Amino acid sequence: MADTARHPFLQGLSKHRGAPPTVVVIFGASGDLTARKLIPAVYNLAHDNLLPADFFLVGFGRKAIPDEEFRGLAADAIKEFSRRELKTDVWDRLAPHTSYVAGGYDEPAAFTRLAAHLDAIEKQLGRAVQPLFYISTPPTVFAPIIRNLGASGLASRYLGQPHQAKVIIEKPFGRDLDSARALNATIQSVFAEPQVFRIDHYLGKETVQDLLVQRFANSIFEPLWNRNFISSVQITVAEEVGVGTRGGYYEQSGCLRDMIQNHTMQLVALTAMEPPVSLEAEAIRDEKVKLLRAIQPLNLGPSGDVARAQYGAGMVAGKQVPGYLAEEGINPESATETYAALRLSINNWRWQGVPFYLRSGKRLARRVSEIAVTFRRPPGTLFAEGDKFDLSANTLAFQIQPDEGMHLVVNTKIPGLETRTQPVKMSFRYRTTFGSNTAEAYERLVLDAMIGDGTLFIRGDETEASWKLCSPVLEVWEAAGREGMQSYAAGSWGPTGADALLARDQRAWRQP
Ligand SMILES: NC(=O)c1ccc[n+]([C@@H]2O[C@H](COP(=O)([O-])OP(=O)(O)OC[C@H]3O[C@@H](n4cnc5c(N)ncnc54)[C@H](OP(=O)(O)O)[C@@H]3O)[C@@H](O)[C@H]2O)c1
Repeated sequence: MADTARHPFLQGLSKHRGAPPTVVVIFGASGDLTARKLIPAVYNLAHDNLLPADFFLVGFGRKAIPDEEFRGLAADAIKEFSRRELKTDVWDRLAPHTSYVAGGYDEPAAFTRLAAHLDAIEKQLGRAVQPLFYISTPPTVFAPIIRNLGASGLASRYLGQPHQAKVIIEKPFGRDLDSARALNATIQSVFAEPQVFRIDHYLGKETVQDLLVQRFANSIFEPLWNRNFISSVQITVAEEVGVGTRGGYYEQSGCLRDMIQNHTMQLVALTAMEPPVSLEAEAIRDEKVKLLRAIQPLNLGPSGDVARAQYGAGMVAGKQVPGYLAEEGINPESATETYAALRLSINNWRWQGVPFYLRSGKRLARRVSEIAVTFRRPPGTLFAEGDKFDLSANTLAFQIQPDEGMHLVVNTKIPGLETRTQPVKMSFRYRTTFGSNTAEAYERLVLDAMIGDGTLFIRGDETEASWKLCSPVLEVWEAAGREGMQSYAAGSWGPTGADALLARDQRAWRQP
């Protein structure tokens, strides 16, 4: 049975959007992200007939890999990681248009070869092909690639036309405000902003996009979306996993850089921004950056607005796991935080006096990302709290992962002759309403970049506004070393310091 027959709500959702003939060039094509996300995304777009009829995929990397071998690697990646099985008819369309160019990321001649390769594709096709460069390498080579795209003329192909060259840049976008500014300056010396797509795959998630729909397509929420009705907002991005084999990478990053500065701050911006004047990318991004700039500098003193910690040993999913300092590749004296919590104050008309609490960490009790908006308590005149009345503050929670959906906590009368109340949860789940095999974030994002829609990507000024808030925190933590670093048991909900952050406001973290 077709998905649409089983799930009537699916009807009408498939929106075919025509992208021009495109060649996607992946830098770092032998990497983990390419195999796990990018090639499966391209395959699923092909499966759904969302790619242009003339679509080409070119891998780029330092190792010499023959075209045939690269196709084999791509097919293996689809078999292992795609949400759908590899179908011969789909792959037979994609494989002949898949090729590979070898070269160094800082080697100008390699980019001349790449340009010649794109010329040959166009000559064979007999028409112009939009180049979409996907930089999926470690960040140390972002700048050399961008400079070489400029020097080789690849960045200015079809400049000013709808099929002008475009570039997707992976995270992390800088390690602090200065490096983010430097990277933006390099990008802007080569590309115009509409050519640039800074990725944060969180923005490709259904529930994150749904946030805009919930806020602005329902007249019941927006009138309440301000300090008069909302008392606080909690944003949680919790991971159950530890650092695993990525200790070397994580030691250089930490939770604030890895999660808070990008994903979590984007969630703050989308939750709190003013209604944009349209759904155009620039209108939305203007509002997001305005909101990010309205966040007050954090109090970084003792009993201030931030908390950090590392996980200790503990039990996760019934198994004993080691603490961070005992993990592979971790310095036993490490001062890298695996947990961070922030209390933000937004200094604008809508949000003054409404704290936004953010937390993220590894080895927490369960993997969950949610935005929970807590409303003010009803006046206690009729249903004062007590034995009979378990009055909860209304909470609207957007669950971003896993089990995407939305939950509203309301107070209800327990059936019976006596009037007693109980908070209950009204839930909407994507899985049950729309089916579970929905597109992955990278599918949506690659397609959007192909059609030049930057709505779900981060503009240069947004990255800098977010770093402006986070960079001073990192400076203070780096200067303090291990002093003040807290610990929490793996499998718990985090350190006591983060509880104290809310306790000072007579609040507690939710259990999502
Ligand atoms: N993996 C993920 O789940 C994930 C998630 C979100 C964001 N990202 C971001 O996506 C990008 C790619 O991630 P990844 O996990 O695929 O990285 P990766 O596997 O470490 O590297 C990708 C490719 O880049 C090239 N490369 C590696 N180290 C290099 C170096 N020191 N200098 C020059 N080239 C090097 C290699 O290709 P060749 O040797 O063939 O040149 C490698 O296969 C990173 O910026 C990462 O932060 C990754």
